[in-house]
Amino acid sequence: MSERQTGAWIKALRRLVRQVGLYPTGHPLTMEALLALRTATDDVVPEGGQVVVSAMDNAFFHNRTILPHVSLEYHSFIGELEERGVESMTAVHPVTDQDLLDVAAFLANASADFPADGSILLNERYLTPEDLEATPTSELRRSYVSSLDALRGVTGAMRADGKFEMAPVVQAVEGLFEQSMTQSSASLLLSTVKSHDEYTYYHSVNACILALAIGRMIGIEREHLIPIGVGAVLHDIGKTAVPTATLNYPGRLNDDQWKEITVHPQEGALAILAAGGPGHEISATVAFEHHARFDGSGYPGIHREKRPHVYSRAVAVADTYDAITTRRSYRRAETPNHALNALLMGAGSGYDPDLVRTFIDMMGIYPPGSILEYENGVAVVVSRSSEPGGPLDTLLVRDTQGNDIDPEPYALHPDDVRGQLLAQDSGIDPAALLESMDQAPVG
Ligand SMILES: [Fe+2]
Repeated sequence: MSERQTGAWIKALRRLVRQVGLYPTGHPLTMEALLALRTATDDVVPEGGQVVVSAMDNAFFHNRTILPHVSLEYHSFIGELEERGVESMTAVHPVTDQDLLDVAAFLANASADFPADGSILLNERYLTPEDLEATPTSELRRSYVSSLDALRGVTGAMRADGKFEMAPVVQAVEGLFEQSMTQSSASLLLSTVKSHDEYTYYHSVNACILALAIGRMIGIEREHLIPIGVGAVLHDIGKTAVPTATLNYPGRLNDDQWKEITVHPQEGALAILAAGGPGHEISATVAFEHHARFDGSGYPGIHREKRPHVYSRAVAVADTYDAITTRRSYRRAETPNHALNALLMGAGSGYDPDLVRTFIDMMGIYPPGSILEYENGVAVVVSRSSEPGGPLDTLLVRDTQGNDIDPEPYALHPDDVRGQLLAQDSGIDPAALLESMDQAPVG
């Protein structure tokens, strides 16, 4: 069993839950989702045996093994299971389609109760406190999850009544800050987590991690660094004031739509000022200026005479880097190395050239999360090399035949890199390797 297989099962289950909640049972999309869950189930439930998937303490478990990355990626689904009172699901071979549909209907709240004697049993087994034991990086993940939660809360509050509470956001960013102090490589690797469904939340937390790292590199004190991080997390919060139809508009925006979009930095800054909190003027400045370019262009168009604040310029670099490395509906993701090149091309016009240089120094030519091909297979960079131009700290994850292998530390010389792969094409998820990194003598 790999985390990937159980992750695929959880993903397929969640998809079926969504479909069952939206469409009647016979709907083609429901049947398609059922088929996908069928396949995923056959991959995880051993013949003649059973498997227990639990959701407890903000994490998914396969039997007793924590699935740290899946827990992060499908964090909101853990909450949904909790709401339905489900802590564990025991799937017994052979699992029937009807039972898969029943469990999905129950989780979708489409049926009130669940048959107690099928091939899937709910809350049959519980994990003990020992099973919930912490891993070295679990605090870092917890901070990440708290930041996602804080952002969900802020977004909900903004949509409901146009204002929000600052305290949970500050607390979450403080957590990210503390963790990134002690585990800087791990936090950079963690910042490669992506979510297609909740793009904005994950992107904002990643931008925050990267902005905190840049800020530390240029010697900004904690007192200012936290509000910068808060500004990074909240940089797009003003988008709650933009009509959804405009935000999701697939084509070229007309003038009116563009006007609607370009108010979001100002709306965000105003909301932050209204919320208050320590250093909130800094956070508001960062949100206000995150689309202002180094040369004074960009929007809101008031920076012609002077440059945006250096804190805003740092967040702009972090924001851009994560956006480029993320897949969106209208364009593919690019490799980390490509994103650095894009920043370099824009240095002096779009971005502060000194900060771009600092950022590249910090990330290395092949930043953490880069998936590299070389003579003996495929390796993922887990932290930047300790000497400029020196070997990269990587984990070897695939052999020359293309088979996945147990991650193995490997010092890869940059000259030996033959090519770079995208996470989405390679099926390799860099952030999922955090656990292997804990054991590896790197970072
Ligand atoms: Fe924005």
